[in-house]
Amino acid sequence: MKVTYYGHSCFGIEAAGKQLLFDPFVTPNELAKHIDVNQIPADFILLSHGHEDHTADLLSVARRTNATVVATWEIYVWLGKQGITNMHPMNAGGSWTFDFGKVKMIYAHHSSSLADGTYAGSAGGFVVETGGMTFYYSGDTALFSDMTLITERFKLDFAFLPIGSNFTMDVEDAITASGYIKCKKIIGMHYDTFGFIKIDHAEAMRKFKSAGLELILMDIGQTIDVNG
Ligand code: NI
Ligand code: MN
Repeated sequence: MKVTYYGHSCFGIEAAGKQLLFDPFVTPNELAKHIDVNQIPADFILLSHGHEDHTADLLSVARRTNATVVATWEIYVWLGKQGITNMHPMNAGGSWTFDFGKVKMIYAHHSSSLADGTYAGSAGGFVVETGGMTFYYSGDTALFSDMTLITERFKLDFAFLPIGSNFTMDVEDAITASGYIKCKKIIGMHYDTFGFIKIDHAEAMRKFKSAGLELILMDIGQTIDVNG
């Protein structure tokens, strides 16, 4: 499965012949100046929550690609008012089978609002089953013990977890979360973008390694092949 990093918490995933895009935030990101947002492909845009560092490029990418936007009911309603019509509303605990695979929306312990102050429902994350693999994209979240429930239903091949602290889990919490979700391959997100969340990469790698886990810190613009 091909995973491309566009910075912060924005990833593109090519699976089952479709392009999935998570949390489009590129143009305001100083670290992603070399990424042309107008070249990012998307058949589906999955949104974890409404905060600007996850939605800044949402409208432009949705309008250009006509991708199906998968988001909470509240964001769905807000997008409708912006003239977006290709959407699928979800809420925590619900699942839906799309043509690329199955998505379950997972609760996240975080807040959520849109740039204009509109309440955006609960923050969330997703477990996605596609292309013979299963992964968890937690979105912005604190560590919460109900992450263990994911393992009741899913065997994860890899997971995207925030590691930048201040607004989300830090490296230590992400290591604990990896245990909760029984997943050894973690792609880090939500770090370095701005001053509050800068991290020491070498130290983060060392801590994950000594916990028997693999931490992947991708370069912005890099594409990797993730295998089970
Ligand atoms: Ni947030
Ligand atoms: Mn965020």
